[in-house]
Amino acid sequence: MRFDIISVLPELLESPLNHSIMQRAKDKGLLEVHLHALRDFAAGKHRQVDDYQFGGGAGMVMKPEPIAACIEQLKAEREYDVIIYTTPDGVRLDQSLCNRLSLHQNILVLCGHYKGVDERIRQKYITLEISIGDYVLSGGELAAAVLVDAIGRLLPGVLNDESSALTDSFQDQLLAPPVYTRPAVWEGMAVPETLLSGHEKKIEEWRYEQSIERTRQRRPDLLETRE
Ligand code: 6GU
Repeated sequence: MRFDIISVLPELLESPLNHSIMQRAKDKGLLEVHLHALRDFAAGKHRQVDDYQFGGGAGMVMKPEPIAACIEQLKAEREYDVIIYTTPDGVRLDQSLCNRLSLHQNILVLCGHYKGVDERIRQKYITLEISIGDYVLSGGELAAAVLVDAIGRLLPGVLNDESSALTDSFQDQLLAPPVYTRPAVWEGMAVPETLLSGHEKKIEEWRYEQSIERTRQRRPDLLETRE
């Protein structure tokens, strides 16, 4: 899978995508992430990427021309399955959307900034608008990093234990059960006996019950939407 990310601050994306699982996915050739600095596509001495909004009001708006120049260049090089704009007024990202997006080959992401991007860019190019939650970030870069991480880790071969993404929280509209490691007793607290029993079926049942109970207590809304 290939991500192209257009941003006024591509530096913000470098560190989160260059470590751990994301780095491994890239090393294995399963994931490519290409960052594009919007300013490189801006004209004039000042390479201006934003401007005052028509009608007045606080905050700058991202100008359409540099964005269009960058998107047009990328689209001439390959076909994109989806062109995403990260914005608080987009559809809320969840596991099911990540699962679906992980099936794509080429994803283009435009990071929102300032008051947002000129509406005509959204009309002309954007095929999916995504928010990562009901709060406001100072830019779409961290949201784009969240997207790449949440989608990239689902690609076959990225996680060492291939079954492990399937047992994540949210994969069944259930939260994950509690987990333990050694020592078996720590600070007077013992690991649940079932987990030490070696009885696979009982362990699986215990985990399922714990998942249900945890979801009922913490996220009853998830149980309602479970089929
Ligand atoms: Cl995608 N962008 C910004 N700026 N804030 C957000 C967001 C995105 N998702 C939640 N808050």
